[in-house]
Amino acid sequence: MKALIYHGPGNKAWEEKPKPVILESTDAIIKISKTTICGTDLHILKGDVPEVIDGRILGHEGVGVIEETGSAVTEFKAGDHVLISCITSCGKCEYCKKGMYSHCEKGGWILGHLIDGTQAEYVRIPFADNSLYHIPENADEEALVMLSDILPTGFECGVLNGQVKPGDTVAIVGAGPVGLAVLITAQFYTPAAIIMIDIDDNRLNVAKTFGATRIINSGNENAFEKIMSITQNKGVDVAIEAVGIPATFELCESIIAAGGHIANVGVHGKSVNLHLETLWSKNITITTRLVDTVTTPLLLKTVSSKKLDPAKLITHRFALKDIIKAYEVFQNAAIEKTLKVVLSD
Ligand SMILES: NC(=O)c1ccc[n+]([C@@H]2O[C@H](COP(=O)([O-])OP(=O)(O)OC[C@H]3O[C@@H](n4cnc5c(N)ncnc54)[C@H](O)[C@@H]3O)[C@@H](O)[C@H]2O)c1
Ligand SMILES: [Zn+2]
Ligand SMILES: [Zn+2]
Repeated sequence: MKALIYHGPGNKAWEEKPKPVILESTDAIIKISKTTICGTDLHILKGDVPEVIDGRILGHEGVGVIEETGSAVTEFKAGDHVLISCITSCGKCEYCKKGMYSHCEKGGWILGHLIDGTQAEYVRIPFADNSLYHIPENADEEALVMLSDILPTGFECGVLNGQVKPGDTVAIVGAGPVGLAVLITAQFYTPAAIIMIDIDDNRLNVAKTFGATRIINSGNENAFEKIMSITQNKGVDVAIEAVGIPATFELCESIIAAGGHIANVGVHGKSVNLHLETLWSKNITITTRLVDTVTTPLLLKTVSSKKLDPAKLITHRFALKDIIKAYEVFQNAAIEKTLKVVLSD
């Protein structure tokens, strides 16, 4: 089969690889019908994730059709259409029992990281019963690719941890695919205002069409002053960080209202200053989380009932064999106006 192989920082190739086989009785082999590229794949290609070895197939998102199941798989059979979760969970360990699948002792984020991933014609999924979801009949499979990672990430790490409530004023810093996933799922809770902050005008304009009530380009304007003026100097009830750099987390610290929630979503590589000299008395909550994908069943229902339309995050489509070109378009997001790319078999 063909797959997108990582060959160390800066190097990748669409190459021949042996088709995966069942290794454990709990495995399933999936023929990929659609997959996508994540910002995390770009981090890997930069060399930021050193556990990823030369020869690894990248990708942790996708939908496909089951080709074969191990003898212990009871919930799925050959021919089933499935959504692949970016998080693999055994369902039995201490963390899985707590619903913290991201920290599963035998799984977690392993696809396209510690084991071969989904940017390939076939993939082996361990603990298939817990790590795959049935796709409802007549569902838009392309839209469901957004449910492998970014929708549960935005919803769990941003909206649920941030405890967005009706009437809240919410600020989302970062209008990438994850920040936009926060924006669309925050609206389940009817906040009064959603302020979107980024430095990319195209993404901010997209945010406006997705329901942002205010947009701020923090490259051109002072985001802190603007938010203070919008909120009569109170600040926001929920500040969600979806970039992953110190400046944007510190912006969240500066704009949070008394009693507010700062929900971190971004992956950080540098330490951040915690301004306890101003925050100690403000009754705030700060949360961090690695996506657990515990909300995938709920999100699947909202997509099936058309309450949520994640397909609007897809800006470009390619054939799977053209994945190298798709990476270029995804990497040049500002010029190409890319959000998510979908690759189809
Ligand atoms: N916690 C988790 O489980 C989890 C899961 C997936 C992704 N993530 C992280 O979420 C973050 C967002 O992911 P994404 O795919 O949307 O990334 P992305 O790079 O596509 O988007 C980031 C956005 O931040 C904007 N930005 C950059 N610098 C800024 C600044 N100084 N001020 C305001 N905006 C700025 C960019 O223009 C871009 O639109 C990343 O850090 C990613 O690694 C976390
Ligand atoms: Zn991802
Ligand atoms: Zn587990």
